[in-house]
Amino acid sequence: MVILTKAQGGRRIYNVLPDTERVPADTPGTLKGMDKFVIRGGNPLLGTVRVSGAKNAALPAMAAALLTEEPVILENIPQVRDIETERKLLVEMGAEVELGYGRAQHRTTICARKLSRPEAGYDLVKTMRASTLVLGPLVARMGVARVSLPGGCAIGARPINLHIKGLEKLGATITTEHGYVEARAPRLQGAEIVFDRITVTGTEDLMMAAVLAEGETVMENCAREPEVADLAALLTKMGAKIEGAGTSTIRIHGVSKLSGARHRIIPDRIEAGTFIVAGALTGGDLMVSNCEPRHLTALLQKLEETGVKLKADGDSVRVLGDGPLRAADVSTEEYPGFATDMQAQYMALATQADGSSIVTENIFENRFMHAQELVRMGANITIEGRRAIVRGKTLLSGAAVLASDLRASASLVLAALVADGETIIDRVYHIDRGYERIEEKLRGVGAQMKRIGEMLPKRSGAAVGNS
Ligand code: EPZ
Repeated sequence: MVILTKAQGGRRIYNVLPDTERVPADTPGTLKGMDKFVIRGGNPLLGTVRVSGAKNAALPAMAAALLTEEPVILENIPQVRDIETERKLLVEMGAEVELGYGRAQHRTTICARKLSRPEAGYDLVKTMRASTLVLGPLVARMGVARVSLPGGCAIGARPINLHIKGLEKLGATITTEHGYVEARAPRLQGAEIVFDRITVTGTEDLMMAAVLAEGETVMENCAREPEVADLAALLTKMGAKIEGAGTSTIRIHGVSKLSGARHRIIPDRIEAGTFIVAGALTGGDLMVSNCEPRHLTALLQKLEETGVKLKADGDSVRVLGDGPLRAADVSTEEYPGFATDMQAQYMALATQADGSSIVTENIFENRFMHAQELVRMGANITIEGRRAIVRGKTLLSGAAVLASDLRASASLVLAALVADGETIIDRVYHIDRGYERIEEKLRGVGAQMKRIGEMLPKRSGAAVGNS
């Protein structure tokens, strides 16, 4: 139930009576996709919000555990649906995966001592493309891997041809039939790989393949994302020999065996960016903590261009969004450029900026699904191919809207935080894929946000293994 507690400088502050405890929507037994968010806009976000570990660093790190018989302990693992999917994937192959709970709930221990089935099946791969990250580690360790081709995706075609091409370069024999790709190689051989275009998981997948290959591999035109460098840090702890991760040239000297390791995953720069935009949009005074400001440079520079006041300090960024926003154009690029995973959130902000902003999406061919939902809330956006022209500032009003993918749903949450009245966002299972308890985190800094859906008991203490 929502009650009015006080009025401040024309802003209405509503208090939301506490919600009951919940767990991520995908925990076994949950009704898939039934949850919705109800958000009442208008409150500035005040206080500190803590960022979780990076989904896009945790997924390749969990796949890397397939490269050794020894346990790999990963810390700062976010409790999001994609991690649960990855756990199922590894367990299906025969690995033991222990998800921590209570104080250790962000720790995961993976032991792939005995892998009975080097295969990633369609049922899981179709729900999470990043499942294809097991291809390289499996063929490198087991000499064979069978992985379902991922199929289409809401934001673009997203083929894995560059992963396959690279594995062929490393000497694997590839067959593709019945919707699966099978790679075979008694032992991969070091090679020169030049990526036709920059691919994040392609770089990660082939790096994981090359660490157990015979001889040296040199990869050019690699992705420079922080998640790639974080994976290389884990692999190096496992005994791999890697130089240049985080640059466009990576050199790998293959070794015959890798050992276990303990590794803390980097913070999620996209979750951090989402909260920073939330602070800017709502005119709040927000401290976004446990993040890595160095990974956010392109976003912070763009926001300063729009007039947002920001202060990066140590592992935090303070956002003071108390002034008018100015329009500014943005183009998505590979890291260190402006992240495509922040494009939708930036579009929500541009609807509240004075003037026209041109948002150009260069990475994915179909990543404007959120625009029409924002228009339903009163935004003025026109799409011309890979460009969106956002004319602001427009008053947004609460409405029933539909989430279509992970980042699109984040932009709808942001728009709802400033919209007049109530917004109901359907299909929030998309957002649970990559944001850990976002409604609790935002409520903690004053948002009026509630999840409606099936009530579930909190997770008990049992370790999750070959269930
Ligand atoms: C990673 O996806 C991220 N996912 C994505 O985040 C992110 O949007 C993307 O990188 C770009 O930054 C993970 O790390 C798990 P790409 P990935 O291969 O690796 C084309 C999120 O919201 N391409 O770098 O799949 C491709 O179609 C997600 O968290 C090929 O043509 O992206 C795209 O246009 C969404 N052939 C471009 O390259 C290939 O073999 C970049 O894709 C591979 C890619």
